[in-house]
Amino acid sequence: MKIGVISDIHANLEALEAVLSSLETDKVDRIVCLGDIVGYGANPKECCEIIMSVCDVCVIGNHDAAIIGRMDYSYYYDAAHMVLDWTKTQLTDRCKEYLLSLPYFHEYEGVLLCHGSPIDAQNFEYIFSIEQAKTIIPYFEQLKPLTLIGHSHLFKTFAYIENEVNDVLAQKFGLRKNYKYIISAGSVGQPRDYDPRAGYGIYNTEMRTFEIKRVEYNIEKAASKITSSGLPNAFAKRLFMGL
Ligand SMILES: [Fe+2]
Repeated sequence: MKIGVISDIHANLEALEAVLSSLETDKVDRIVCLGDIVGYGANPKECCEIIMSVCDVCVIGNHDAAIIGRMDYSYYYDAAHMVLDWTKTQLTDRCKEYLLSLPYFHEYEGVLLCHGSPIDAQNFEYIFSIEQAKTIIPYFEQLKPLTLIGHSHLFKTFAYIENEVNDVLAQKFGLRKNYKYIISAGSVGQPRDYDPRAGYGIYNTEMRTFEIKRVEYNIEKAASKITSSGLPNAFAKRLFMGL
């Protein structure tokens, strides 16, 4: 079975539509979402409705949690805070109920899904550097063979074996026996690796392979909607730079 893995959509409808059309070409059997459907972008309601209809499973991200009062965001910097306040006014009750229903963890076909670190998922800790990855070594026994996470908006893969962790740099790779993996699956709507194309992954459960995919989308349109909605221009500009 081929599983499409999407994360950090951040209310970017143009990027989400481009990724879904690419996933159709990839002929995936199912789609899972690793959270942060909303925040930063101009189409939170539309993205939420699409995720509800196309995803088998979705876990909650910190921006989703902030919207429905499951996380205090008063300490967020002003611009991010302002978008979250605006997003609340855009979402329908159905969308809010959906966000409220999302779990922190989901185990799916032997794969653990969560937004940030699998250790204490409610705190949404980042794992994108090898130093951060090393903090998981003491939990090796508890780790599932594969954990898929979002949150950093970067593609990063960490392979664990006993007291060791290494990063994997390939675009497509097989998961080796005896190793356990944490894979950060990039971002659909706000990539931060200086490649502005929307990102997603494909996990093949039989072949035990993971592939990183990138797809072009209409950045101009997504960016102009952010500006015309009165949201901070910085969130429009960064889309062009992929950060
Ligand atoms: Fe995010």
